[in-house]
Amino acid sequence: MTIEQWTIERILSWTQGHFEKVRPDSPRLDAELLLAFVLKCPRLDLYLRADQPLNEDERSAYRELIQQRAAGCPIAYLTGEKDFWSLTLEVSKATLIPRPDTETLVETAVEHILKWQEDHPGQTCQIAELGTGTAAIPLALCADLQNLNIISVDCSADALTVAARNLERYQSLLTPRNNSLELQESDFFSAISPAANLDFIISNPPYIPTDNIPGLQIDVCEYEPHTALDGGADGLLFYRYLFKTAPQLLKNSGELLLEIGFDQQTKITSLQSEFQGWAPAEFVPDLQGHIRVCTLQLL
Ligand SMILES: C[S@@+](CC[C@H](N)C(=O)[O-])C[C@H]1O[C@@H](n2cnc3c(N)ncnc32)[C@H](O)[C@@H]1O
Repeated sequence: MTIEQWTIERILSWTQGHFEKVRPDSPRLDAELLLAFVLKCPRLDLYLRADQPLNEDERSAYRELIQQRAAGCPIAYLTGEKDFWSLTLEVSKATLIPRPDTETLVETAVEHILKWQEDHPGQTCQIAELGTGTAAIPLALCADLQNLNIISVDCSADALTVAARNLERYQSLLTPRNNSLELQESDFFSAISPAANLDFIISNPPYIPTDNIPGLQIDVCEYEPHTALDGGADGLLFYRYLFKTAPQLLKNSGELLLEIGFDQQTKITSLQSEFQGWAPAEFVPDLQGHIRVCTLQLL
């Protein structure tokens, strides 16, 4: 082996150094994820094959991805996949990249639905989700629970195409577990009839105030779809809509489970006081202690 050879170990170390200067958040991980993607192997194999040289095609494909990452493109858009909960989901530039933050909403929803199932033995739980993106939330629920009937809506036809492929990938979480998941193109809940008689409404809606979007990290503001981020002038557009509309769609004692921005608890509490029919909101922190979830129950 000559010193000039670009082995896996050498190219990873070079890329890590480059990303440390230009994209310092997780330079080693990013370098490994992109190289594993190019070589079509698990990340661990990079260590087992550390001395293996890359051929010209592999180097050129890797170089292209390094440039895009250096310009700010999120890793998940380059590899087309993101791990979420126990799943590996397809993502595209039409979908938000599912966040670890949203696992707090999934955890909370699993707890609330299990409690509901204890109180309603043998019944199918009726759920609607607003803004499904990749279908991360409903698929994660189906991975942990049974007897769910979920309708998930999104206004983006392109996002729903990706969601449909994720459903296809995870068919084993549906019929065999007595779960059903329907995807529907819909502006807000316009496609859902009050006859849906829901037990739960779940949503991780867009909640960034419009004027704050240009100030977000470049990975987010220049690459992720603004329809997935923009919560209107005060960031509360979707919460206002849900506090008003959900009572017409939910059964008595039905619940609304929402992800919220880490700094939105006070605003949400104040907004909720403008709407009748709800018990006081409860808030759930994530592992770092930031409030990320709000739950409300109809009186
Ligand atoms: C914050 S993303 C959440 C995506 C996914 N649920 C997740 O947690 O990763 C919000 C989603 O709401 C969708 N959305 C935005 N405006 C909408 C509207 N008026 N009606 C339905 N969906 C909408 C976006 O397309 C996006 O997929």
